[in-house]
Amino acid sequence: MSPLSITRTLPADATAAALRADVTQGLTRTPKQLPPKWFYDARGSELFEEITKLPEYYPTRAEREILLTRSAHIAAATGARTLIELGSGSSDKTRHLIGALTELHTYLPIDVSDSALAAAGEALLTEHPGLTVHALVADFQKGIQLPDTPGPRLLAFLGGTIGNLLPEERAAFLRSVHAMLSPGDALLLGTDLVKGEATLVAAYDDGQGVTAAFNKNVLQVINRELGGDFDPADFDHVALWNADHEWIEMRLRARTDLTVKIPAVDLAVSFAEGEEVRTEISAKFREGGVRSELAAAGLKLSEWWTDSAGRFALSLSVRV
Ligand code: SAH
Ligand code: TRP
Repeated sequence: MSPLSITRTLPADATAAALRADVTQGLTRTPKQLPPKWFYDARGSELFEEITKLPEYYPTRAEREILLTRSAHIAAATGARTLIELGSGSSDKTRHLIGALTELHTYLPIDVSDSALAAAGEALLTEHPGLTVHALVADFQKGIQLPDTPGPRLLAFLGGTIGNLLPEERAAFLRSVHAMLSPGDALLLGTDLVKGEATLVAAYDDGQGVTAAFNKNVLQVINRELGGDFDPADFDHVALWNADHEWIEMRLRARTDLTVKIPAVDLAVSFAEGEEVRTEISAKFREGGVRSELAAAGLKLSEWWTDSAGRFALSLSVRV
C-alpha cells in the first residue's frame, strides 16, 4: 500500500441522495434550514481556509497557539500510535501535534471534503515521509468503520466544529466517539468560548465578505448538483448571536419575494422578502458545560487549556 490511501466509505451516489433528502426536507419545512456539511465542496473548503486567515476570525490562531504550547504534553500523556481526526480539513494545525507525537504510526484524517483530504495528505507526507496516512471520506455523524490500527488512539476534533452540532446531535456524536475508542484512549477537543457579542459576530461576518461568500456557497452546491436556479445575489448573509442558546446563527435572508426551481428534487421553493434559511449554528462553550457533556458520554476531562487571551479552549479527556 502506498503511504497515502484515500477510502470513500460512501458509494458515490450516497452523497447525492443525502443532498437531495436534506434539500427536500430542509427547504419545505418552516423555518427553512440546510445542514452545514454541504458548504464543503472544493470551493467551500478553499473559502474556509481563507476564513481562517481573516483578522476577525480568531479561533484558528487561538487553537494553534494552544497546540504549539501543549503538543509535547499531549504526546507524553497519550503515547498515541494512531491519531484519528474528524473534520480534518487542511490538517494545517494538526501538523504541530503530528510533529510532537513521537510514537505515531498512523494518521487517519476523516472529512466529507475529498479535495481537502487529498491536499492535506500530500502536504503531510512531504513533511513526514515515514507516516502512514489513511484518509477516509466519511460523515462523522454517521457510524464510521475505522481500519484496524495500533493503539493507543488519540481522536482529535478541532476547530470548534463540535459547536456546529445541535445539543442533541452533540450528545449522540460524543457517544459515537466513545464507541470508537478503547479504555485509556484519549479525545482532544477544540471548543470556542462564550465572549462578548461584538467579537463573536465579527468572526462570522467579516469586513471582506469572505464568510458571506462561504455561506452562499451552499446555494451554488445546490445549483450544480441538483440543477437549481438560486441567484446568490438574491440573498443576504446574516450572522447573529443567540444569547439564550449561546450560539452564533448563520442565515441567508431573501432580499425580495422569489421562487427557486430545483429540478432534481422536483421542487419550486418560494421565499417571502426577508425570509431566512438557517444554514449553521456555532455554539460557544464554558468549561463546566464541556466537562459535563463529556462525562455524560463516558469521557473524563483531564486537561483544560486556553489560549493566552482566554478565547478558545482545548481539552484532553480519557475514555473511561
Ligand atoms: N479541522 C479544521 C477544519 C474545520 S472546518 C480546522 O480546525 O481548521 C470543518 C471541517 O469539517 C471541514 O473540513 C468540513 O469539510 C468537515 N465536515 C463538516 N461536516 C462534516 C461531517 N458531517 N462529516 C465529516 N466532515 C465534516
Ligand atoms: N467550525 C467553524 C466555526 O464554527 C465553521 C465556520 C467558521 C463557519 N466560519 C463559518 C461556518 C462561517 C459557516 C459560516 O467557527
